[in-house]
Order: sequence, then C-alpha cells, then structure tokens
Amino acid sequence: MKSEFWSARRKSRLAVASSVTAAAVVAGLVVAGGSPAVAAAGCKVTYTVNQWDTGFTANVSVTNLGDAVSNWDVQWDFAGNQQVQQGWSATFSQSGKHVSAKNPSWGGALGSNATASFGFNGSYSGTNAIPTAFSLNGVNCDGGTTTTTTPTTPTTPTTPTTPTTPTTPTGPTTTPQPGTHVENPYAGSKGYVNPDWSAEVSAAAAAKGGTLGAQMAKVANTSTAVWLDRIAAIDGTSSARGLRGHLDAALSQASGGTPVTIQIVVYDLPNRDCAALASNGELKASENGLARYKSEYIDPIASILSDAKYAPLRIVAVVEPDSLPNLITNTSMATCAEAQSTGVYTQGIQYALNKLHAISNVYNYLDIAHSAWLGWDSNFGPFVNLVKQTLQGTTAGVNSIDGFISSTANYTPLTEPNLPDPNLTVGGQQLKSATFYQWNPYFAEVPFATAMYNAFVAAGLPSGIGMLVDTSRNGWGGSARPTGASGSTVDAYVNSGRIDRRLHRGNWCNQSGAGLGVRPTVAPAAHFDAYVWIKPPGESDGASSQIPNDEGKGADPMCDPTFHGSQQANGGNLTGALPNAPLSGKWFEAQFEELVQNAYPPVQ
Ligand code: GLC
Repeated sequence: MKSEFWSARRKSRLAVASSVTAAAVVAGLVVAGGSPAVAAAGCKVTYTVNQWDTGFTANVSVTNLGDAVSNWDVQWDFAGNQQVQQGWSATFSQSGKHVSAKNPSWGGALGSNATASFGFNGSYSGTNAIPTAFSLNGVNCDGGTTTTTTPTTPTTPTTPTTPTTPTTPTGPTTTPQPGTHVENPYAGSKGYVNPDWSAEVSAAAAAKGGTLGAQMAKVANTSTAVWLDRIAAIDGTSSARGLRGHLDAALSQASGGTPVTIQIVVYDLPNRDCAALASNGELKASENGLARYKSEYIDPIASILSDAKYAPLRIVAVVEPDSLPNLITNTSMATCAEAQSTGVYTQGIQYALNKLHAISNVYNYLDIAHSAWLGWDSNFGPFVNLVKQTLQGTTAGVNSIDGFISSTANYTPLTEPNLPDPNLTVGGQQLKSATFYQWNPYFAEVPFATAMYNAFVAAGLPSGIGMLVDTSRNGWGGSARPTGASGSTVDAYVNSGRIDRRLHRGNWCNQSGAGLGVRPTVAPAAHFDAYVWIKPPGESDGASSQIPNDEGKGADPMCDPTFHGSQQANGGNLTGALPNAPLSGKWFEAQFEELVQNAYPPVQ
C-alpha cells in the first residue's frame, strides 16, 4: 500500500471566505419522549445512545422545522459528568456540562424540514442520563429529545461484536434470509475475528506481559480484514489459512442467529501499487497480467464465495486499494502510465465488480484513497468521473457497488478536533493555506468521505451507498496529542493543533507516533456504513531494504527513517517511518506496541 500525496496540484490562489452568518429564526416546538409532537415551527432533536461501562456513542439528528438557515448550532446540557471525546460531522465545544455542536464548514445549510446528523463518542461515570433540552441557533427545541435508546448490554468498545446501533435506521426490520442483500452489511451483525491475526496479537501480548501486554491482549478480539494479496493467498500458505479456511472460521463464529460479516481485500491487480515499491505485486500488465488476474485470481475467489454453504455470511469486498487514485495523480510514473494505457486497472476492477456483485451476499466497496491524496479539487473531480466511468462499464452499472472506503491502511484522522474549520483565518491566512495542508480543503476523513458521498450521489450513484473509513491506525493518541491550537501564524496554529503528527501528509510507511483508532463501529454517521479495521494493526507497510520474497515486493525508501522523500512525495521531509521494518504484511512487533500505546480512544 502506498498512500500517495504527490502530484496533487497545489492551489496558489487565495480562497474566498465562504461563510455567511446565519440569522436563524427558529420558533420552539414541543416534542415528547418517543412520539414527536409537531409544532408550527422550530426544531426536533433525536438523540440516541449506545453505551458500555464508561463510554458511549451518541448519534444526534436535528430537524429544522423553521426557516432555512445557513449555519447551525445545536446546544444542550449534560445531566451528569459526560464528556465529549471525539465527534464527527459537527464541531464540538464543551464547557462544564454545556455542549455546542456547530455545523462543519462543509455542511452549514439546513433547509426547512431538513435534518442534519452528527455524533460523538463520550465518556461518563455513574448514570448516563439523556439530555432533556436542546436548542437550535439559540431557540429551544422545547421538550428535548424525541427518542432515547435503551442502553445496550454493557460491553467493551474494543470488541467487534458490540451491537453499537441495534436500532440503526438503515438496518433491516426483519431477519434477512441467508444470502439476502441488506442495505448495510455491518448492521445487526458480528465482525469476523481473523484467528491468524488474533493469535499473533495474543502471542505478542503474552510475550510482552505487564500493563502493555494486558492492553495488547484486549485488541486481539477486534475484527480485521483478510487481505487476498496474491494468488497463493486464496488457497493459503504455510503461515496463513486460505479463503475457504477463513469463511469456514467465520461460519463457526456465528451464534444465536446473528450473521457474521467478513471483510476481504481484493488486492492483486497487474502493476499493483504502481507509484511505490513496498507493495508491488506478482502480476504485470506486460506479462499477460490482466488475463491471469481474471482467471487465476478473481474467478477462483468468486467461485469460492458463491458456494451456497457461505450464504449465511455477509462478505464485504474492499476492492483494489490505491489503484484508481494512482491513475489520477501518478501517471507520470512509468508503471502507472502503463496501468492506464493498457486499461488493466479499470478493466480488472470492472471484472472483479461484475463477478462479485453477482453473488448476493457479497458487498463491494471501492477504494477512494484519503483526504490527503484526493482532497484537492483538481484531483477530487477527475476521480469522481473516473469512478463513474468505470462503474458504467460494469454489467450492473452504478449498482455494482455498495459504497466506498477511505483511508485504507493510511493514518489520516477521522476529524481534526482542534482545526475544525479549514477556512478559519489566523494571521490573515486561512488554515488550509498552511504548509501542512497546502490548500487542500479536507483535513480529515469524515468531511472528505462525506463530500465524496455527496459528489457521487450528485453524479448519479444511488443514495443508498455507504461510506467506510479504515480507522485501524488513525488514532493519534498518547502524550503528543494536542488538546488545542494556538499561534499567530497559520503554520504555528496548524502545527500546534493537528492531531495528525506526521512530518508530512504524504508519509505513509509505518508511521512513528500513530495509534490505534476508533474501534469498528456500525453506522457512526449519516451515510457511513461503518468505521472498520482493514489494515491489521501490527502488519508492516513495507521494508526499506531488500528482503527476498516471491510476492513481487520491493524495498521502499519511504520506509527508511533516514530518507528524505522528494519534493512531490512528501515535501522533502523525513519519512517518519519506524526503523527496521519487515516486508509489507509481515508482523512488526515494535509498531504494534506503539500503536497500542498511542491508541485513541485509549485501550483500557
Ligand atoms: C500490504 C501488503 C499486503 C498485506 C497488507 C495487509 O499492503 O502489501 O501483503 O497483506 O498490507 O497487511
């Protein structure tokens, strides 16, 4: 996996401040627990909670029953000692019990009868009473909440089995039959725990011992993806079971009628990882790679997945990370240019989508890189077009996918809590003009993936598509995590406030300072099907010196901590990689320990 920053064209012009102050006129309304009452004008709030011993996830929706507004600010008081920890789709501030959730820069407009949804993870002790009163732009939504969710059975947020949203609106209302294609494959299911990865984590934890060992052990039950990173991975190797082995294990993890969702990464295109070396693959466009990809890779996978025995499973396929994004930004490199001119990426993906979509319990999610790669308008728009064209070339057209995934195996945070507004002006400059962001208006994955969702739907894709974010390594906790931003220049302000502690956003290999991110979570925000762990934490991104292998992988200088990348790759900064890493995909103990230590939310 390479996560590519370079060739992202930079904006040199000054962006125009776009925010307009809202003069909202919102009259109150009355709502009562469970059944919303309707009033002439005002607002309605839905606040649902799922909680465990010391934490909770709250999903909040506000419906504007008054006149349209161009900015919104929803406020409430907590009843107890609840603390907002990490939010999405709104900018949170909390003072004592009082909370304000303001629209993010990309989502201020709220028309009459329109609903905005946002949420957060919080902490509490004692009881977690639901707030009783809310306001929208200073006007009470009289009566407070319309619904409250009964807390789920206390459970730890680190397990993949946490039924975070048992009443998710996107979920099925009746138990689906095996093989039924549901709207959100994560809703009401249990995530597959890969026994091979889990055993590696448990062994490392036992060997480590002490407090850290105990924390490491707690991660072992998390659902992570199975990477089919070469033809041999389908049948399995001496060190890893094959696809049938995983599917059989997934069947055996089902209990009590709850289906299991297993995630596989389809990752073996000819000229794979064309802009880097660490994850180069076994197939080459110039050596009949596309034909081999179809007959030796996709066909056997599709044949196994269509075995009726596996119909009770929900199988999520993450399709070819980094491939289409490389066609947008990296065709100045020969291997990518060849991938483009031969059509192996688009045709390979079309073939994979056709074969996989034909199996009713398979769910296709296409990779959209991440905000630090495709965030600039000059990359974003062409990428949306390329995806649309690629989908139009499949049998089912835009219906051949269920959604998209961002930040696969990358380190980009969900949000930048201290830098919520890229247009904020400091010292006369907008934050997005800072050296770290280079006029990219997307600082993090929630705003980026939300914007992608909107762009895809505007381009004619079905509104039911859902987004995923790989949060396995984007936590950025630990002592270096800033709690605020300050400074009189944009660079000082951004560098003091960003939780993304990379030396440059183009750095992607075994990043020093990173931590485990949000544990797998179902339907965390509007249009997001889940936060997932696709890159299994502890598996290396690549090695800096050549290690003999039969997988086509090379030594990548971006994995060498003493190497300065190019101006394009990472602004000539050091790579920020941890030293002495093994080959990509192999267990990297030192990295796993650091990820656990820097986890955010912390592993407790
Ligand atoms: C990388 C590797 C691949 C591995 C995956 C998950 O991209 O190239 O072999 O399976 O990461 O760790």
